[in-house]
Amino acid sequence: MSSSPTGLRSKLTSYGDDEFSLFLRKAFIKGAGYSDDALDRPIIGIIDTSSGFNPCHGNVPILVKAVERGVLLAGALPVPFPTISLHESFAHPTSMFLRNLMSIDTEEMVKAQPMDGVVLIGGCDKTVPAQLMGAISANTPCISLVTGPMLTSSYGGKRVGACTDCRSYWKDYRAGMIDIEDIARVNNELVPTVGTCGVMGTASTMACIVEALGLMPLGSATAPAVSSARSRIAEQTGSAIVAMAARNPPLRPQDILTLSSFENAITVLQALGGSTNAVVHLLAIAGRMPSLSVTLDDFDRIGRRTPLLVNLKPSGSEYMEDFHKAGGVPALLKQLAPLLHLDALTVTGKTLGSELDAYPGRIFKQDIIRSISAPIFPSSAIAVLRGNIAPNGCVVKQSAASPKLLRHTGRAVVFTSTADLTMRIDAEGLDVTADSVLVFQNIGPVGHPGMPEAGLIPIPKKLAQAGVRDMLRISDGRMSGTAEGSVVLHVSPEAAAGGPFGLLRDGDMITVDIEARCLSADVSESDWEKRSLAWKESSQRRTKPKRGYGKLYATSVMQAHEGADFDFLRACQGS
Ligand code: FES
Ligand code: MG
Repeated sequence: MSSSPTGLRSKLTSYGDDEFSLFLRKAFIKGAGYSDDALDRPIIGIIDTSSGFNPCHGNVPILVKAVERGVLLAGALPVPFPTISLHESFAHPTSMFLRNLMSIDTEEMVKAQPMDGVVLIGGCDKTVPAQLMGAISANTPCISLVTGPMLTSSYGGKRVGACTDCRSYWKDYRAGMIDIEDIARVNNELVPTVGTCGVMGTASTMACIVEALGLMPLGSATAPAVSSARSRIAEQTGSAIVAMAARNPPLRPQDILTLSSFENAITVLQALGGSTNAVVHLLAIAGRMPSLSVTLDDFDRIGRRTPLLVNLKPSGSEYMEDFHKAGGVPALLKQLAPLLHLDALTVTGKTLGSELDAYPGRIFKQDIIRSISAPIFPSSAIAVLRGNIAPNGCVVKQSAASPKLLRHTGRAVVFTSTADLTMRIDAEGLDVTADSVLVFQNIGPVGHPGMPEAGLIPIPKKLAQAGVRDMLRISDGRMSGTAEGSVVLHVSPEAAAGGPFGLLRDGDMITVDIEARCLSADVSESDWEKRSLAWKESSQRRTKPKRGYGKLYATSVMQAHEGADFDFLRACQGS
């Protein structure tokens, strides 16, 4: 590419003959109905991720219009363009399988098209991390704009909203506590509006984390999808990206993000009792930054000093609209200030501390955002465990677990695949008690492409019907951020990569001790060796994808403790 005479990235051309290139570009933009000087100003791309398959993004057309308005008011030219869109319930085999593909789409289209800045409109779980991963790698000025959470509804006089309630009603149905008519009727109320899940699931967690990272203006994460506030945030985002792109030199994501920004994001994750999925996503996002290292140990270290302050499901009892009314992320950040790096930079070019000082509104007395002196859970909402079955680590959201299972020893009941689990979990003859430890292997990044959110293994029907509501469960997969229970996740290395977790057998005694951050199995060295040899022989026979994206995924995906990004997409360190 030749250099731009105006200094604007959007004026770079690639045909060698600059004047002819601009002549062609003007001819084509006129074909789209623009007048002669439309391209003579900064150009702002707006990523439109609306899709008939994505109800969480159902308000994107309204947001695109509002961002366009903000861009125009600030004197630049808005140009919306599409990328792929991912919804949790409409992506096979999993939305996570496609997260890295969406990040490639985002990175390459941002780099390829003439724009000086870009607004990333995302919302549903995988979209926000995918867009950030791509935009950081493209290193073009960018701001995240989330679609915002859905509102709640009610059923039988009780408030309901996706998707912690989806799971608890389903659990009641499996246990025979409610009948088929009840479960059908509540289904009508669980997703009452467009927007992302209304609890502190992955989408809400990521939205709040991006605000803490400094990659969206303060106060942008929590406004409901259908509120006028959401449209006004979109308009302000349009003006803010023009200011960001117009700076000389422009402010790029790699200029903003530092280890301090990530530590702030992890502090917020822990204070929210947020989704365990955010651990994988933050590791992947940080992996796109040259000269920056974030590891699982950072999550545990920061967790130990961070209390859980936000009373939202699944760790607490309320919903995102309540968090928004309570002041949202800025009110939380004000409580957390002593634990934050207030000198971290944000998209405005100012520090988080000065943005917080200038942010209107004080924290009022309320029950949603607690003070550091009266937390909901003292510390380490998410803890990182290690041991002989997870040498590279695993995570557990202890704030959503049963206290009596935080230290527990029990006999393993092992399921080796999704098919195996489906076939046997409800069998009358399954040798299982409430004290057993349910082990689910081969649902890691390689084992079941995309690490499905199957880590919340259902309680075997006969135990559920006898009143058992929680058991210790361990897997190399993920769990929905909206789920609760005593569930250990992301065991690394995973079973399909030959990790010791895959060598567990029925009857092995497993001990978890969250206080000691330990997860281990009582298996002798000679037994490990025998089992490992047998695994190596059987793995030779496993078929691997031969073509297409599936092959790219299988050959490139990294382990959960590294963010499950593709190895070739990570930043070249030091570059
Ligand atoms: Fe989209 Fe929950 S399914 S945010
Ligand atoms: Mg989810």
